[in-house]
Amino acid sequence: MTRHEIAKAVLNERWHAMPAQASSEAFAPSNIALCKYWGKRNQEINLPVTSSLSISLGHKGATTKLSLIDAQFDEIILNDKPLDYHSPFSQRLVGFLDLFRAKHMPRFRVRTSTNLPVAAGLASSACGFASLALALDSLFAWELDQHQLSILARLGSGSACRSIWDGFVEWHMGVREDGMDSHGMFIPEQWPEVCVGLLILTDQAKPMSSREAMQRTVTTSALYSSWSAKVSRDLFSLKQAISVHDFLLLGKTAESNAMAMHATMLSAWPPITYFIPETLLTMQKIWALRKEGISLYFTQDAGPNLKLLFLEKDKPVIESHFPTIETIHPFAAK
Ligand code: PMV
Repeated sequence: MTRHEIAKAVLNERWHAMPAQASSEAFAPSNIALCKYWGKRNQEINLPVTSSLSISLGHKGATTKLSLIDAQFDEIILNDKPLDYHSPFSQRLVGFLDLFRAKHMPRFRVRTSTNLPVAAGLASSACGFASLALALDSLFAWELDQHQLSILARLGSGSACRSIWDGFVEWHMGVREDGMDSHGMFIPEQWPEVCVGLLILTDQAKPMSSREAMQRTVTTSALYSSWSAKVSRDLFSLKQAISVHDFLLLGKTAESNAMAMHATMLSAWPPITYFIPETLLTMQKIWALRKEGISLYFTQDAGPNLKLLFLEKDKPVIESHFPTIETIHPFAAK
């Protein structure tokens, strides 16, 4: 099935709805996977090979304002800067908007702004597509439920299906070919002491998109077959850690999962790595601090920057070792 057919199937009789208002606005948090999504079983509609589990970043994410315009083309504005319509970024958004455009539907102005540091690997596409799906829902008054919204966001970017909720979210891979059972599921557990530290080591663009890197890993890595078994074990451990607030189990499982994902990439051909020298130096510093008894772990996505995991009580010591860190409290009141 195509993306278009899936969007139509989710919207069903709402498909022909005209916009209910002239503009809308929605926020979606960014999310960081503690058990990663790495590999698609269907590239067209972003169906994953495995399930995954994330923590959302509270008030850090993207706000999208959507309005109708009388113009020939959509207008895309990112952090107050109008983008060239033909840029890959704009074309990706326009392609997503086209999924919902019935005949004679006007063009949109999409104004997205993010309060995340603009840098590689901070899941900006996840919160961007999730906020766009939410803004479309409100503009057209579709009143979709969260699972349906998660499926629509998934069509923009896989990890976006986890950005519909705050807190911990599991993306169930599903088994259906049309992906109607592949969406995020909220895990109703608050853990206010958990902190996520964003450590920007470089603001250079990542060398390869996650889409391309995933595909090469799936098709060429000899380690890939053990990845799904590792994911099953890690999902079990993370859910256990979350339910009893066992931070050591959470941190250890998340770090080990990220390292295993990067190992599958190193063993792809041609090899892929998102490590830069600073990434490795910082990992070694974290391992040394852990040896000294500090409860600090990291995770890394498709970029060189690290996200640190620690508890609120250790924040002063962590911030003294990493002066440039930006600490996020995922469960803080907005
Ligand atoms: O959703 P995408 O295509 O941006 O891929 C996300 C991949 C990782 O961030 C590396 C892992 C994840 O689960 O978020």
